[in-house]
Amino acid sequence: MEGSAAIRPDKFGVTDVQALWKTVGAFIGLQQDGDAYICRGEKANAAIVFLTDDVVRIKLFHGDQVDLSTTVAVLPQVGSVQVITEEKDDSLRFRTSAVQLVLDKRTFSFSLEDLAGRVITRQNQVSWNPRGEIQASYVMPEDSHFYGLGEKTSFLDKRGERYTNWNTDVYAPHVPEIEALYESIPLLIHMLGEYSYGLFLDNPGRTEFDMRTHGEAFTVGCGTGAYDLYFINGPHLKDVVSRYTALTGRIELPPKWAIGYHQSRYSYMDQQEVLELARTFRAKQIPCDVIYLDIHYMDEYRVFTFDPVRFPDPKGMMEELKSMGIRIIPIVDPGVKKDAKYSVYQEGVRENHFVRKLEGDIFFGEVWPGISAFPDFTEDRTSAWWGGLHRYYTELGIEGIWNDMNEPALFNESKTMDLDAMHGNNGKPLTHEELHNLYGMLMSKATYEGLTGQLDGHRPFVLTRAGYAGIQRYAAVWTGDNRSFWEHMALAMPMVMNMGLSGIPFAGPDIGGFAHHASGELLARWTQMGAFFPYCRNHSAMGTVRQEPWSFGEKTEEIVREYIGLRYRFMPHLYNLFQVAAKQGLPILRPLVLEYPTDPNVSNLSDQFLLGEDLLIAPVYRPDTDHRVVYLPAGTWIDYWTGEAHEGGRHILAHAPIEIMPMYVRAGGILAEGTLKQSADDPANDAVTLHIYGAAASADFKASYSLYEDDGVSFDYRQGTCSELSLNVEGNADTVQLSWSYDRQGKYQPAREQLRFTLRQPSFVPSGVSGLNHRSIDELMAGEAGWAWDEACQELLIQVADQADGGKVSITVA
Ligand code: GLC
Repeated sequence: MEGSAAIRPDKFGVTDVQALWKTVGAFIGLQQDGDAYICRGEKANAAIVFLTDDVVRIKLFHGDQVDLSTTVAVLPQVGSVQVITEEKDDSLRFRTSAVQLVLDKRTFSFSLEDLAGRVITRQNQVSWNPRGEIQASYVMPEDSHFYGLGEKTSFLDKRGERYTNWNTDVYAPHVPEIEALYESIPLLIHMLGEYSYGLFLDNPGRTEFDMRTHGEAFTVGCGTGAYDLYFINGPHLKDVVSRYTALTGRIELPPKWAIGYHQSRYSYMDQQEVLELARTFRAKQIPCDVIYLDIHYMDEYRVFTFDPVRFPDPKGMMEELKSMGIRIIPIVDPGVKKDAKYSVYQEGVRENHFVRKLEGDIFFGEVWPGISAFPDFTEDRTSAWWGGLHRYYTELGIEGIWNDMNEPALFNESKTMDLDAMHGNNGKPLTHEELHNLYGMLMSKATYEGLTGQLDGHRPFVLTRAGYAGIQRYAAVWTGDNRSFWEHMALAMPMVMNMGLSGIPFAGPDIGGFAHHASGELLARWTQMGAFFPYCRNHSAMGTVRQEPWSFGEKTEEIVREYIGLRYRFMPHLYNLFQVAAKQGLPILRPLVLEYPTDPNVSNLSDQFLLGEDLLIAPVYRPDTDHRVVYLPAGTWIDYWTGEAHEGGRHILAHAPIEIMPMYVRAGGILAEGTLKQSADDPANDAVTLHIYGAAASADFKASYSLYEDDGVSFDYRQGTCSELSLNVEGNADTVQLSWSYDRQGKYQPAREQLRFTLRQPSFVPSGVSGLNHRSIDELMAGEAGWAWDEACQELLIQVADQADGGKVSITVA
């Protein structure tokens, strides 16, 4: 006989939630509460706060009180904004010196307008349903393009796509239909013609951005929590990126070694193998700064341990590696093995550091070590505990940590922690469902802060798989488990370009691909490209063919050596771009649309990128291919390899046999090149050559460059221990002038005696350089001051003593 279960409501069909969506209704009144303007509506309210003249936050709330605290993504903002309000019968207008926000009183929709009243965007009524889902739609005119959203698959322009933000570890994930990956950056940049603005939904639960299904509108929504939205004004794409990073933070300058080449494998199995690997790099003269230890270094996958059989002497190993200029980065996952004899677990239980269910039981889940508990990083005291545990590594000389599985990833059907697991959240408890996307970032924050306190003033390095908006403040990001597919190599370009536009400049994929099997050709092509990615690591999975640079014979090895070497030679330029990212928030690896926003050919250009402003990289990403189409934007572009000049604004066919990756430098661009080193932070020689491309003896030729230098390891630059060299190049009818000066604040002195300049492919033949003797190239190479003209390469070399007060030379034209 059945009980009442026979008439369970779900037997009669599900309730139509669609019919239950509610909207705010009409505006009923305005109040001011400190910096916040509270707009009361019939069924809900909105709090409006201007953070700057160009950034405004609108938070929807129910009830009388609004909670204006933010997630950890948003930095405290200082300064106040002058806002003029104007109320009319049908509208309420808030004006700053840059934008106007207009509330339609009847519909409670918001428009963002420029000062001339041109609508930048309109948010239609926000609506919500009883399950706590909230969404709003925004107008999407015909000429819309979309960027940002962090780590997503598909092409550069996200128009026609739909994405979910829910940090997820999906094996084999880099396919176009995947909606959620390891990182969640709920920032969408909308470009309309020449105007760009951003929408940042600060919600660490599940969020959705749909630019596919709603015709002339796109929607932004969340599954739990608050609709807490920031409008970020442009008008330029660069303004949006720089304002978004002012809001969520910018990278700290990484230690220089972290910008070098990294070698990894799941796993280098023992101490001997690691040392042998390091010796091979040095013997083969392939530059390398870091070797990774994947999960097998641990004692049965217990974090903060070494396996005593495979790694009997970690300290000795570390010392030997250090003498070779190579560092170790061990993996640290969040899962702590449930083991009554394991001190980290004991301490975590005893001191109440693990995530619990509401009923009080510790939440357990399965990962590499078997059944494990998970630290609750939403509690500051737990983060401090976790950070402190890293002394185990730092006392061995370790300065970098790799955070993985921190979505958090679990071996169960949902792939993560139970949604009803509870986070203490520093006294404001919330469910995992509401905070999921913050877990990985808070783990990396705890790690970064722990290391910072333990390294005696050295800069730490953290690599993470999972993250949320603001992750750039604590860690570099790699794009997770890709495969050794040509398609995944191609995909890494738009993915990392959009990460850069989403505030994460320090990013890159596993070079050569993680799963599946690489070939020599794939590794050669991928390393050519990867050598110019901000984060540069070769990593591969167990059971795949070996992927170290020498694994595919001499020809591949030679190409890999050449391109990794190129990365090291370009280190001064690269480091400079890291400093720009740290100061201005701009990406290192840039989509062309960032520099040429009005050029329709680049709005979805996904297979080329710029390193900074002037170095254009066009990788070959298909097998058996020795030509490719390259788009050159406006200007004259000089082929890096041949010196040939091409007029831009058109497509060209580049010849690219296996040893060549097409690269072009804009005429008027300047690149700083250093010496080839085996470790990036080898302080022995800071010799630098400033290459000036395509100089012309005409009044409209102007070029400038600023070279930032510091010790590359300490935080002393924060007190001004750094050096900034400014170079200006100006042409006129019969001369070209070079003038340079230092801003060293007297403290950091690069290790070099001379300064070298080249004029590559100038449009003239030089006849003399003021104050300098004509010399042979050999004499210049031997350190003499002077100048030489290399007819074959069409290159003028100039060498001068490097003096603190700078200098000036004038080149006369034959
Ligand atoms: C995950 C990581 C991968 C790592 C492996 C073992 O799949 O993404 O990089 O090698 O775990 O730790």
